[in-house]
Amino acid sequence: MRSSSTGSVEVSSSAHFQPGRTGNPPDGILPVEGLRMVPPFTHEPVMADEVLELLGPVPAGLVVDATVGGAGHAAAILDAHPHLRLLGLDRDPVAVAAARDRLASFGPRATVRHARFDRLDREVAALGETGRVSGVLFDLGVSSPQLDRGDRGFSYRQDAPLDMRMDPSTPRTAADLVNDLPVGDLARLFAANGEGRFALRIARAVVKARPLSTTTELADTVRDAIPAAARRQGGHPARRVFQALRIEVNEELDVLADALPLAIDTLGPAGRCLAIAYHSGEDRLVKAAFNRAVTGGCTCPPGLPCACGAQPLGRLVFRGARRPRPAEVERNRRAESARLRVLERIIPVQPGEA
Ligand SMILES: C[S@@+](CC[C@H](N)C(=O)[O-])C[C@H]1O[C@@H](n2cnc3c(N)ncnc32)[C@H](O)[C@@H]1O
Repeated sequence: MRSSSTGSVEVSSSAHFQPGRTGNPPDGILPVEGLRMVPPFTHEPVMADEVLELLGPVPAGLVVDATVGGAGHAAAILDAHPHLRLLGLDRDPVAVAAARDRLASFGPRATVRHARFDRLDREVAALGETGRVSGVLFDLGVSSPQLDRGDRGFSYRQDAPLDMRMDPSTPRTAADLVNDLPVGDLARLFAANGEGRFALRIARAVVKARPLSTTTELADTVRDAIPAAARRQGGHPARRVFQALRIEVNEELDVLADALPLAIDTLGPAGRCLAIAYHSGEDRLVKAAFNRAVTGGCTCPPGLPCACGAQPLGRLVFRGARRPRPAEVERNRRAESARLRVLERIIPVQPGEA
């Protein structure tokens, strides 16, 4: 269900905070009598202590924050690690404005671009970087402001047009999906996101209720489609349906699957790729991409020495995924589902180089 029209974000706006800029302000920046004011962007960075610790040993150079958001991680990285510079990417222009504002005090150490992270290699090249990068951070999913700003249409808790686009310049909204997809596709989408036995029932109810244009209409339709006894378990009945639609509207899994190998390729020796996933679909992709890098794509039978010539591209810094500490989850419920995995890059020795 991937659309080709959103393969890349063409606008790659300029990097640094520009106090004197004239003309129409980018989305999310409010001009007030000649001053530029960015609306507050409150998002607590998840597993920030772990991210700082794991980026400590990387070589001096550039780190790409592929999901810069409000620059909580980015500012902490630049504060804690003077040997690092940072390129922040985000597909959401509101986040880009907030990140530029937050990182302005770091001057030329920080650059922020409006771009989807499957362009990260091109954005690194556009900076004029000749070498490879020292780190890449993916802090996946949505930011608190995306969820909390009712008008973005991400949340079943606030009445708003059914939108859910992280980048409002992309063509397809959640309303387009719920009103246009055949019932079978909707049911598959909901089932893939854990809706299990009610997926088809919900999909049929959505089709029957068309046209749906607001978050409340969709949330009510989903709630009414689920038997009363089942409604009482596992939070709001519309939570997983909204998550499934958000992931599909933004093609999150396809874009992540393309971006992970690019990130690994872009890393220099001992550079690290850190990925924080909040959803099993994201975490599966991260785990598979890191495992492929560790085996170098080896196709030999398990237990036998490698004879296919595969060269490992990395090593896991620790096995499995780290979870946030209970104290962090207590303070920030949005950290609850986080899983952090880390790969360290090895550059294979070419024949004749050893
Ligand atoms: C969890 S938030 C990141 C918060 C950030 N680490 C901080 O400390 O403020 C995820 C961000 O990633 C952005 N995002 C999601 N998918 C993206 C993609 N494919 N390319 C670029 N940005 C993306 C979202 O717009 C959102 O701002």
